[in-house]
Amino acid sequence: MTVDLRVKLSDMHLKTPLILASGILGLSARMLAEISKIESVGAVTTKSIGLKPRDGYPNPTIVVLPYGFINSMGLPNPGVESFLAELDEAGSFDSPLIASFYGYNIDEIAEVAKIIARHQAVSALELNVSCPHVSGISEIGFKPELVAEAVAKVKKCIDKPLFVKLSPNTHLVVEVARAAAEAGADGVTAVNTVKAMVIDTELCRPILSGVYGGLSGPALKPIALRCVYEIYEEVDIPIIGCGGVSSYLDVVEFMLAGASAVALGSIIALKGVEVFGELARGLSKYLERKGIRSVREIVGLSHR
Ligand code: DHB
Repeated sequence: MTVDLRVKLSDMHLKTPLILASGILGLSARMLAEISKIESVGAVTTKSIGLKPRDGYPNPTIVVLPYGFINSMGLPNPGVESFLAELDEAGSFDSPLIASFYGYNIDEIAEVAKIIARHQAVSALELNVSCPHVSGISEIGFKPELVAEAVAKVKKCIDKPLFVKLSPNTHLVVEVARAAAEAGADGVTAVNTVKAMVIDTELCRPILSGVYGGLSGPALKPIALRCVYEIYEEVDIPIIGCGGVSSYLDVVEFMLAGASAVALGSIIALKGVEVFGELARGLSKYLERKGIRSVREIVGLSHR
């Protein structure tokens, strides 16, 4: 039996449900174009882009733990105009390119969205209102009414699908997803990293120069999975599951919880892009063993 791994996300057609998450290998447009050509890659996402260039924080910006990473890069990016110039030079994309972006207020968010959406290589946008440690970002993403306002304004300025990347650092994750959906978002990405920190016991001070960072990797997975499950129960909107996926069974779990596609982050940083092929093969074998022809059939199946 040959199984079908293709999924549809809003108006995008993905060869597989496996997406490169934002922040992983996504600062170079050329690298993203290369990754988009890998057979088992469904879509690729850029590092979050803002209106103006940002240096990010000085080192140390990442701590490796037995159960994941805590990273605090500080949203380094070249700014939207330079990033689009880089995209011009990057060559073609063989799977959809999702542009992650942020702004410090609603007008700025809409301005960045308008500029990014004009580029023909960009298939969809992902609004980052959930970076856990750069001030001014989660402050928007924690408030359903502000997220609704941002989504409505962005949707007026662009004619491409808009996803909202949600924060797990609020008890209102379902309410924020609902607000995004009602304001016209085409999907949500659940979830961004959990706000976290590490302290050096010799120096008696926080290790990360930004003090706080975002926890990703295996420790995040059950939290992210719970968020996807809760959103699927309550809100009728496509979900990209994201958080600590490291095996094909994690992909299956996210899809059973209600994700239409799954984004990979820490595992790619750890093991490289070969993981896409590994997970796609595992997913196919799982479906074959279960006698399921299309991966689309398992989306939300655990809610019966
Ligand atoms: C950064 C941004 C994020 O959205 C995140 O989850 C973790 C880190 C950053 O650029 O520092």
